[in-house]
Amino acid sequence: MEFIDLVTQRCSIRNYSSKNIDRKDLDYVMECVRLAPSAVNRQPWHFYICETPESLHKVRQCYLREWFATAPCVIIACVCHEEEWIRQSDGRPHGIVDLSIAVEHLCLAATEKGLGTCWVCNFDVQKTKELFDLPQNIEPVVLIPIGHPEMDISEKNRKLLENIVTEL
Ligand SMILES: Cc1cc2nc3c(=O)[nH]c(=O)nc-3n(C[C@H](O)[C@H](O)[C@H](O)COP(=O)(O)O)c2cc1C
Repeated sequence: MEFIDLVTQRCSIRNYSSKNIDRKDLDYVMECVRLAPSAVNRQPWHFYICETPESLHKVRQCYLREWFATAPCVIIACVCHEEEWIRQSDGRPHGIVDLSIAVEHLCLAATEKGLGTCWVCNFDVQKTKELFDLPQNIEPVVLIPIGHPEMDISEKNRKLLENIVTEL
């Protein structure tokens, strides 16, 4: 598939069929996550996969939306703050930049396999930490529901290139 087709096909899926994901597809997606670049190659991330009834029940309490509960799998993408690179010149930590790249690898790889995903950041972080008893230095940043889409690809609504690019 041409890359432009892949990125056009990837869209936020907010309804999933109850069909489970093939283990092979999930392994492929996670391998694409593993290969993501990161600042100074620190790889300051950890991914928790919720697929059991117990873990799905917990994660669904962290983002109370009917559509979210249709996903047969949710991945909790976390930054490990102890491992992230911090830019010396201004003290900016780069863990969230690194994690975002890995999460988009996840979403695009899933799209290639015919699976749907959605970035979810508007969740209850504190509740997630408590319910999953996450270590102190691990920050959950994104929840990614993943599964077989039960909706059509949505239209892209994006700013025009001329409004976001400046030639210097
Ligand atoms: C960082 C980030 C956070 C997001 N958080 C949420 C969210 O909490 N809930 C949700 O339904 N969609 C969320 N989205 C999805 C966006 O609404 C969506 O990507 C955007 O509207 C563009 O649509 P598309 O993904 O279908 O191309 C998030 C997307 C990003 C990149």
